[in-house]
Amino acid sequence: MEPPHRPGGSARLDAGEPKLEPPHRPGGSARLDAGEPKLEPPHRLGGFVTGYRRPERPATLMVWQVAVNAAHRGAGLAGRMLDHLVRAQVIDGVTHLETSITPDNEASRRLFGAFARRWEASLECSELFGAGLFPESHLAEELFRIGPLRVPARRH
Ligand SMILES: CC(C)(COP(=O)(O)OP(=O)(O)OC[C@H]1O[C@@H](n2cnc3c(N)ncnc32)[C@H](O)[C@@H]1OP(=O)(O)O)[C@@H](O)C(=O)NCCC(=O)NCCS
Repeated sequence: MEPPHRPGGSARLDAGEPKLEPPHRPGGSARLDAGEPKLEPPHRLGGFVTGYRRPERPATLMVWQVAVNAAHRGAGLAGRMLDHLVRAQVIDGVTHLETSITPDNEASRRLFGAFARRWEASLECSELFGAGLFPESHLAEELFRIGPLRVPARRH
């Protein structure tokens, strides 16, 4: 895998969240769907999705993180957040979604599998980062690429 997926030009990945240097992280012209919510008790963040348009391929939306508060999982929240984000981005010219997933993240794999079916789009899976690139024991990261994406007016 070539840059921009490689952090700081190094072939190594940290076991935790990779720290990416510009232009690989959201910033500049990239857009985030979640800002910094200021929630007062008893309100709590239920979930969020972040992503950015790939600088060298702006028709591709890289979904960086999807997370749902454990108390709200399994109720379709992640799927609805993804639909909301992608619908706005497709109207703005996005044709494909990419995301990286480890083979053991069943919830995430099912989330994006269901997304591809809902949007009647193809899903391709390929190796992004082999397990050997991580300094410690870590499963390979796979790249999911979904598309082409079109907004079916009757359902979204
Ligand atoms: C992945 C995650 C965002 C899913 O959120 P969610 O709101 O529970 O997802 P949804 O309710 O929209 O469900 C989406 C699909 O995943 C499936 N799913 C949800 N939780 C699951 C679980 N624990 N195990 C297996 N499948 C699961 C659902 O059945 C659904 O698939 P289906 O439509 O084929 O039935 C949530 O589990 C999470 O926050 N995980 C921790 C963070 C993470 O790993 N994020 C992804 C990498 S950035």
